[in-house]
Amino acid sequence: MLVFKGMKILGISGSLRECSSNTTLLKILRDLPFPEVEFGIYPDLGRLPFFSPELDDGDTPGIVTEFRARLANAEGILISTPEYAFGMPGVLKNALDWTVSSGEFTGKPVAAISASPTYGGGDKAHASLLLVLSALSARVAVKGSFPIPAIYGKISKTGEIVDPAIRDLLRGVLSELVATIRAPVEE
Ligand SMILES: Cc1cc2nc3c(=O)[nH]c(=O)nc-3n(C[C@H](O)[C@H](O)[C@H](O)COP(=O)(O)O)c2cc1C
Repeated sequence: MLVFKGMKILGISGSLRECSSNTTLLKILRDLPFPEVEFGIYPDLGRLPFFSPELDDGDTPGIVTEFRARLANAEGILISTPEYAFGMPGVLKNALDWTVSSGEFTGKPVAAISASPTYGGGDKAHASLLLVLSALSARVAVKGSFPIPAIYGKISKTGEIVDPAIRDLLRGVLSELVATIRAPVEE
């Protein structure tokens, strides 16, 4: 019997807040009717230890090994991040730092969005995230990566959809990521 297996995409939210708008966007993405995609959300960002190369010398913490395996197993990664003090949250940078030497992002298709109540949409955190992704040699889905401003006009503070157009915007993000996964890699 031929069993169809969906394209695995892992969502990572840069916010640890229970009612995070960025995590809500990932949940909307997970629940979109997009049959060719299996969308999972990484749950343990706040449990990763602070990165230090010494912790990676032989006896790497199990949670880091699991994180790396989930990244490696995903065909694409979708990051949604807030902006704190004009930068990406430390927990997200910390998680990305754990992959520098192990290389899970090398050549990996990634879409990156940022959501904020401000009119900038977290554009500075978004720009710094793109810079880090380029250092990691990720394949960024450029047209599916952008800041989302005035987020509380689109979803409520408790996670309900206020403006249904957010679904189409997010569907576009996912479509661009899927197109990047399918695109032939230029040598
Ligand atoms: C300490 C702190 C610093 C913040 N700095 C920024 C900022 O520089 N730019 C911005 O757009 N929003 C900033 N915000 C507002 C966040 O965008 C807002 O809290 C957002 O809802 C966080 O994302 P989340 O809903 O996914 O947790 C800041 C919030 C906090 C608590």
